[in-house]
Amino acid sequence: MSAGNERGVWSSKMGFILAAAGSAIGLGNIWKFPYITYQNHGGAFVLVYLFGIAAIGMPIMVAEMMVGRRTQKNAVGAFRELGGGKWKFVGALGVITGFILLSYYSVVAGWTLEYFLKSVNGAFEGLTESEVGAEFGAFVGDPFKQIFWHFIFMALTVGVVIAGVAKGIERVTKALMPMLFIIMLILVIQSFMTGGGGQALHFLFRPSFSELTVDSVLEAVGHSFFTLSLGMGAIVTYGSYMGKGDSLPKSALVVCGLDTLIALMACLVIYPIIFSFNLVPTRSAGILFTTLPVIFTKMPGGALFGPLFFILVAFAALTSTISLLEVVVAYFIDELKWKRQQATLILGGAIFAIGILPALSNGAVASLSTVNILGKRSTGGIFNTFDYLVSNWMLTVGGLLIAIFVGWRLSQNLKDEEFHKGEQTIFHYKMWDFLLKFVAPLAVALIVIAVIFLGKEFN
Ligand code: PHE
Repeated sequence: MSAGNERGVWSSKMGFILAAAGSAIGLGNIWKFPYITYQNHGGAFVLVYLFGIAAIGMPIMVAEMMVGRRTQKNAVGAFRELGGGKWKFVGALGVITGFILLSYYSVVAGWTLEYFLKSVNGAFEGLTESEVGAEFGAFVGDPFKQIFWHFIFMALTVGVVIAGVAKGIERVTKALMPMLFIIMLILVIQSFMTGGGGQALHFLFRPSFSELTVDSVLEAVGHSFFTLSLGMGAIVTYGSYMGKGDSLPKSALVVCGLDTLIALMACLVIYPIIFSFNLVPTRSAGILFTTLPVIFTKMPGGALFGPLFFILVAFAALTSTISLLEVVVAYFIDELKWKRQQATLILGGAIFAIGILPALSNGAVASLSTVNILGKRSTGGIFNTFDYLVSNWMLTVGGLLIAIFVGWRLSQNLKDEEFHKGEQTIFHYKMWDFLLKFVAPLAVALIVIAVIFLGKEFN
């Protein structure tokens, strides 16, 4: 089989949309968004976040799809073809980011499998929140379990990516995404029955601007990159398997809309239960693994909804990990002419191996858990160091460069032509180009400046 055939294409428009939505919807939506929104007092933060998605995230998503679809190449090849050797490093940065991000993302993804099994077995029955918290601490500090679940999650990811674009990624996301949506809907309804729904809606949608700080604005914008899978070539790579007749703005609109919907629904699953049980999460980052398991044991039907919830998070994470691995694999297939099978196994194995470091750095190995190479408040341990580098630096700098590249470097003719293929939407070319040229780079530059000069840390 020639290298060309190793690439693949989506079998339908829906295939691309569900795969891209699958990449976007992940731990960022279900684990991170509810707790950062909680920390930032809801309302006003949510509004800024929605603004970030619409004015910065969506334009950059169109830009990434454009670079991929136009060239039909992996991230490195795509930037080289359109921008020459100078720009290919933007793609290379993406491949490296994918490598690092996947190595620790898979660790957390693995936790959801353990928690699925635990809730099936009723392991949380009769425990208090602090007991569940202690158990969580012991679990993430258990070297065998950490490596085991990380391995299982990487193996699942490799199993999907090895089967190819249409037969692997598209097939799996087409099955999982609708299921995810249905489970989410059931859980929202169930959660509202606890009686905390009104309070949750109030918290989410009643902005009080006095509680908004500069930090929360920057965090909201920064998170929009992570949650939309932007800034590292995932959407470039998925875009490269897209049909020539699909509409870019329409696809971006749908993907961004679904991602936002799921993030808000995750809050509507989590907040009503928390409010109705009067639980103030002590460690908000641990809502998912400490507060929720306790609540599921107390609520009617919890024995069913607990496992359902954790399997939902696992599905969401899997459709994201496959997109991360695909960025790396596509590079080796296109540029180094590896076979898909060989690329997937070797690179999946390498990422698993690197991931052992973050897997053991949440308490299992003391030196890995405390080492602080960057010397920041939030960068103690390899896991936090990786997350800090990716969330604060790699995705934002990558996003900034992509916006500048497409905004300023690509010709109007090329952009105009790509933008207007397929059906049109309310998203106009001129508006898009303006957002991409001015608004997005400016906003992202502000974040980068805040990270460099003010020492801000978002993760
Ligand atoms: N968007 C994913 C999430 O929200 C994470 C991700 C980032 C996936 C970048 C791929 C690329 O969990």
